[in-house]
Amino acid sequence: MLTAPTSLCPNPMRVHSIVQETPDVWTIGFLPEAGYNYQPGQYTLVCVDDDPNTLRAYTISSSPGAGAFLTITVRRIENGVGSNWLTRKVKVGDYLWLSDAQGSFTCADIYDSKYLMLAGGCGVTPIMSITRWLLVNRPKADIVVYYNVRTPDDVIFANEWKMLAGEYHDRLTVTMMAEDKAAGDFLPGRLSPEILRENIPDIAERTVMTCGPAVYMALVEQWAKALGVPPEKFYKEQFHVAAECISDDAGKVTLSVDHLRQNFSVAKGTSLLVALEQNGVSVVSACRSGVCGACRTKVLGGNFTVTSRETLSKQEIDAGFVLACSCKIQGNIVIE
Ligand code: FES
Repeated sequence: MLTAPTSLCPNPMRVHSIVQETPDVWTIGFLPEAGYNYQPGQYTLVCVDDDPNTLRAYTISSSPGAGAFLTITVRRIENGVGSNWLTRKVKVGDYLWLSDAQGSFTCADIYDSKYLMLAGGCGVTPIMSITRWLLVNRPKADIVVYYNVRTPDDVIFANEWKMLAGEYHDRLTVTMMAEDKAAGDFLPGRLSPEILRENIPDIAERTVMTCGPAVYMALVEQWAKALGVPPEKFYKEQFHVAAECISDDAGKVTLSVDHLRQNFSVAKGTSLLVALEQNGVSVVSACRSGVCGACRTKVLGGNFTVTSRETLSKQEIDAGFVLACSCKIQGNIVIE
């Protein structure tokens, strides 16, 4: 057994399969030891690196009701602790511990007759989970998928997309776009408002769901709005790594960690999570984007702003808790 259960990750999973999807993406299949409830599009926290305090968040790429296995799909990132451990060290037969399923990016409560799924890169993982589920559970729904990749070799779930498009040809259309080396069925370049307008004239009547790099999703949201998609029919995955780059001239402030009796000089504007990590103070984190609640930290005083309070109760907020990943240090600050 590789890791132990924690309060956040109490669900034992036996690794059943490890399949390479692209040169840098693997899908890991688990057999839940004691069942596992989730909705299509949700993600899970995984205890990685044999350390109960090291958590990483991964989208569940399988769909509930479609087989006994749960899968996560992982891109190996240079120096990424979680992705390197999962794709290099973990073997079939090992046990891992997962959190309960999390996240609100799901189609389970959406009832529509037309959907548009827009995926960029690895953001296709929840889009596959959702599309597969909709095809079975919304049997009359018409679904259009646009999937952007760098090159055709980067398509994740290539065979399954082909298989689904063939099996459900009367109500599923899948278009792949490649920035480089587009050939055959691939459209060259990136998604644009012109492509959406010309190819999906009924876009305003569709539920639009998107997942991909933050910049991609921001553009998609802008275009969808301009093309008449009502805000209540537009859904984007909030789960992405927030930009952490702070210029040196932003100014230095003091971060005091009360229980360590230590002060650190940090750049104003840095997230509290990054500032702590840069100074060797360990913080449990997973999504790093204000969604999972893993990095809950108590602030005793100081100057800061927050961008997310998801999962924090009113009592916790009143008591001074913040999500370290979503707390920007604006001046001297003291944490417990
Ligand atoms: S790491 Fe998930 S909310 Fe901060």
